[in-house]
Amino acid sequence: MRIVAIVATERKNGNSILAAKYISKKLSADLEIIRLTKMRIEPCRACYACLYGVKCKIDDDVYYIYDTILESDAVLICYPVYWLDATGKLKALIDRVFMAVPYLENFAQKKAALVTVHGFEDMNGWASATCNVLARTLGLNLLASVEVHAALPGEILLKKENLEKLDTVVKALSDGVKIVDKNQCPVCMSSIFRVNKKRLFCPICGSELDFDFNVVKKGNKLLNYSWLIEHYESLKSMKDIFKNLMKELENAKRIVDNDIS
Ligand SMILES: Cc1cc2nc3c(=O)[nH]c(=O)nc-3n(C[C@H](O)[C@H](O)[C@H](O)COP(=O)(O)O)c2cc1C
Repeated sequence: MRIVAIVATERKNGNSILAAKYISKKLSADLEIIRLTKMRIEPCRACYACLYGVKCKIDDDVYYIYDTILESDAVLICYPVYWLDATGKLKALIDRVFMAVPYLENFAQKKAALVTVHGFEDMNGWASATCNVLARTLGLNLLASVEVHAALPGEILLKKENLEKLDTVVKALSDGVKIVDKNQCPVCMSSIFRVNKKRLFCPICGSELDFDFNVVKKGNKLLNYSWLIEHYESLKSMKDIFKNLMKELENAKRIVDNDIS
C-alpha cells in the first residue's frame, strides 16, 4: 500500500508526523509525507474558471498535492489543533478544492483517515470537522477520524489510549471499513453539531439526529462524487443569475462608494 500523509505542522518530528509513521509502519506501507507548511498555497481567486475545465492560473503547489494523491492508495490527514481549529494552510487547501474536479472520480477510490492532535484535553475545538471537510471536498473515501490528546512532540506514542486510536485507523485502512466513534455523526463522522428544535444537525452532511445519535433524517451533503458535481453545476448556474442582476448589483455597489467619497 502506498500512503500519502498530508501533515499540517512545522514540527519535523511532532505528533502528527509520528502518527503518520506509526500507521504506515503497522500497515507495512510506503509513506510519502506532504508537509503542508512547506507548500505554496495561494488564496482562491474565486474566478470559477476551473469549474469550466480551465487549468488554474495560480502557479503554486496545489496541483502537485493532487498529483501525489493520485499516485497513492490511501490518504492520511494528520494535523495539530491550533486555536481550536486546524492550522491555516489546511484551510487554504480546502479553499482551492474547486480545481480538484478532474481528480474527483479517481480520488473516490482512495481510502482516507484523519488524525487530530490536541495539546489540551478540553480544547480540541472543531479542527476534526475542518479536516473532515477537506477529505469530503476531495471526494476521498473517509473511513476513520480519531482525536488524540498529546502536547509534547512524541507524547502521542507514550499513551496507550492514543495507540489504540491509531490502531483503529490501521484497522479501518487495512479492512477498508468505516469505523465510526460513538460521539460522531453516524453518516459522515463529524464531531461538531448545531442544535435546533431539540435535534442535532450535522453541519457537514446535513443529517438530523436525536440526542442518542440516531439518524432521524439522513443528509447527503459533501458525501460523494455526484453531490459534489451537482453542487458545482449549481454554482455554474449562478453565472447566469449574475449576468441578469449585473445592473442592479452595480447600482447597489455605487451606494457604498458614494458614501465613502
Ligand atoms: C499556535 C498554537 C496553538 C495551539 N492551540 C491549541 C488549541 O487550541 N487546543 C489544543 O488542544 N492544543 C493547541 N495547541 C497544542 C498543539 O495542538 C499540540 O502541541 C500538538 O501536539 C501539536 O502537534 P504536532 O506535534 O504534530 O505539531 C496549540 C499549539 C500551538 C503552537
